Amino acid sequence: MILIGHNFAESLAKLLNCKTADVEKRTFHDGEVCPRILSEVKDDHAIVAERMMLPMKPNGYLVEALLLVKNLKSMGVKKIDVVMPYFVYSRQDDVFRKGEPFSAKFVLEILADAGATRFFTVSSHADRDKDMISFSPIPAYNINGFECIGDYLKGFDLHNPLIVGPDRGAEMFVDTVAKKLGAEKVLFEKKRDLNTGEVSIKADADFRGREVILIDDIVSSGSTMLTAIGICKKAGAEKIFCAVVHIISQKGIDAISPLVDKFVACNTIHSDISVIPVEKKIADKIKEVS
Ligand code: R5P
Repeated sequence: MILIGHNFAESLAKLLNCKTADVEKRTFHDGEVCPRILSEVKDDHAIVAERMMLPMKPNGYLVEALLLVKNLKSMGVKKIDVVMPYFVYSRQDDVFRKGEPFSAKFVLEILADAGATRFFTVSSHADRDKDMISFSPIPAYNINGFECIGDYLKGFDLHNPLIVGPDRGAEMFVDTVAKKLGAEKVLFEKKRDLNTGEVSIKADADFRGREVILIDDIVSSGSTMLTAIGICKKAGAEKIFCAVVHIISQKGIDAISPLVDKFVACNTIHSDISVIPVEKKIADKIKEVS
């Protein structure tokens, strides 16, 4: 078995006790990517494990993954796993308006067509409550990043934590973390205007004396968290922490960080706040299903 990629692949390789092949990343002046596998690959099983950094470039990242998979297949590799810590395009997990693509499904189909035989991701937005992504043509494992968040928060000296989710969709996220910490939980009611993107939250809360831990899968524009933070402050929270699996924009970090006691994310995307490691959970899953 050989791991293809850089830092993230190297940490995974250590946990899986296997070697890494180095990849030279090149982007031409016109924006096209050309990932070159520098090492000789004689293995039957390869794992492409690349991770994005901020600012995210999901299109180039996806094309790079496809080119690596196809290239490995042309080198005769039989089993090709793709580890995509943040599943790009997973938020378009349905056809919301006529004529739109079912992007999450199509991305998995394109990866499978290129030669990927298994897919591993962390807290996919699509099929968020499932261990396996149901619409994938290849086995697609959805690893629960909220367990990593729970384990990380156990290291803090919390006295009266309250785990809060900004909307009903966050129920499983909040459940996982609350269970790990043996804490109480609350779910807000969020509405997003589909045309303007504006977020509103309905809540009647009294958080006086509580250390509130706001949990979500993704921070993008930051609107959801900022609205939820406003409510927690109004409700008298003693401390506010934010913990998310995927931080996908610097704008979100800059807007939220000054307003809370701590803002952290999993390291599915590299950023200054991505301090919660997920490699062990991914390695455990790969070992479990291999
Ligand atoms: C929505 O269903 C997600 O769980 C997140 O709440 C959402 O993606 C956050 O986006 P933003 O930071 O732009 O409000």
